[in-house]
Amino acid sequence: MSETQIRFASGEYVPLEMHKVRVVQKLNLLPAPERLAAMEGAGFNTFLLKNKHVYLDMLTDSGTNAMSDQQIASMSVADDSYAGSASYDRLYEAIVDIFGTEFFLPVHQGRAAEHIISQVFVTKDGVVPMNYHFTTTKAHIELAGGRVEELFTDEALKIKSNFPFKGNIDINKLKALIAKVGKANVPYVRMEAGTNLIGGQPFSIANIRAVRKVCDENGLKIVLDVSLIAENLYFIKQREAEFKDADILTILRAMCDQADIIYFSGRKISCSRGGGIATKSKELYLAMRDLVPLFEGFLTYGGMSVREIEAMAVGLRETLDEQVINQSPQFIKFLVDNLDAAGVPVVTPAGGLGAHLDAMAFLPHVPQTQYPAGALAAALFIISGIRGMERGSISMDRDAQGNDVPSEVELLRLALPRRVFTLSQIKFVEDRVKWLYANRAIVGGLKFNEEPKVLRFFVGRLEATSDWPQKLVAKFKEDFGDSL
Ligand code: F0G
Repeated sequence: MSETQIRFASGEYVPLEMHKVRVVQKLNLLPAPERLAAMEGAGFNTFLLKNKHVYLDMLTDSGTNAMSDQQIASMSVADDSYAGSASYDRLYEAIVDIFGTEFFLPVHQGRAAEHIISQVFVTKDGVVPMNYHFTTTKAHIELAGGRVEELFTDEALKIKSNFPFKGNIDINKLKALIAKVGKANVPYVRMEAGTNLIGGQPFSIANIRAVRKVCDENGLKIVLDVSLIAENLYFIKQREAEFKDADILTILRAMCDQADIIYFSGRKISCSRGGGIATKSKELYLAMRDLVPLFEGFLTYGGMSVREIEAMAVGLRETLDEQVINQSPQFIKFLVDNLDAAGVPVVTPAGGLGAHLDAMAFLPHVPQTQYPAGALAAALFIISGIRGMERGSISMDRDAQGNDVPSEVELLRLALPRRVFTLSQIKFVEDRVKWLYANRAIVGGLKFNEEPKVLRFFVGRLEATSDWPQKLVAKFKEDFGDSL
């Protein structure tokens, strides 16, 4: 039990909300045959479902977090000037107070920051080492002519683990890679806080300090993606002895001070929209600055609305409040620990962002060529109206020869947007996932029938390899009767 957790007399682990709900949105839970029809209409791709067909939207935590009353209030005093807006000044002050960086470039979202950073720094055939890739990061580095090298530790991809920092870079692998490709061919080293695609797993301050040392020895920059920093900070406080009693700002600075460039998706870190790039270096700022008016918008809005800018400033400051940032990881832990205790294959220890089901262990009879994580996403929606996201081979594009690239892990991500769901909804997720696990033999594979070349997971369309979806609905009806 964490120190920030309120204890129950029963000793039961119950993540207690330190907020109350003041605005609500009505949800629909359709009957199973209608959910199947919706899934067929969406080409077995959860990105293509319509929200009116979804009960719990666990696709992502991106832009779907609950805002605080303070954020909503700030949006009504936004200053609409094209240039020199007072809203921008408030955001800039928040950036300086939080990250301690003097220079800031606003952009419309996280991948826009990745676009600018890769266009400016990635050289042709340059190699960018990182703890793990994110889909848009990799696509932008490749678009700029470089490639990604993932240097995760041996623990990172183990589904069942109690390793506290699965997001760490393997320092020996980093040294070996730099020696192999030559430091001149390494545009920068990228660290992703709260490593998204391996299950929202944190890295330690000790690890980023060690990366800094190697970078200093080789004259290399660190680019730090802080989109998911909030939960990473929380886990450092829980798991890294040196920071047991530290406040969140101290931990944040201990991390961010190691980086040359910091960037983020405001859709995650600040429960708002938008994004940004921050640095202490005037030289690096100037190298990137002129691309902002070209691709994003003027330097005081960067493609964001001023209302988003205000909400971002407040949301960033709220990231320093432990009672704000602990809610999501505590709910995730509740779900993950309960699934794990029931024998459902789920990534452990519980990370940030969401619960991640291991589709290869869940559906061992579905070969990777038939996309087990995509099939599991479709099956779960059909039996529950819960929309998760495939994070496996569908999320990998084909190689230059046109071959499918099997993903190292096949995960179904069930994101928990921050402060959005109640505990009874999380218990519903637990219940339906357990039922699906008991009935997993019914679920079969998927095949593409419409496949884009880049980031195919967003809009590609697939179909079931047999009539397994119909059989699944029949079994659901048998067991649940008239219940939705
Ligand atoms: N970096 C990380 C670690 C991310 O998780 C994301 C987005 C981005 C960069 C790109 O930011 O969406 O604002 O352009 N992750 C979303 C997700 C899409 O669903 O995990 P963006």
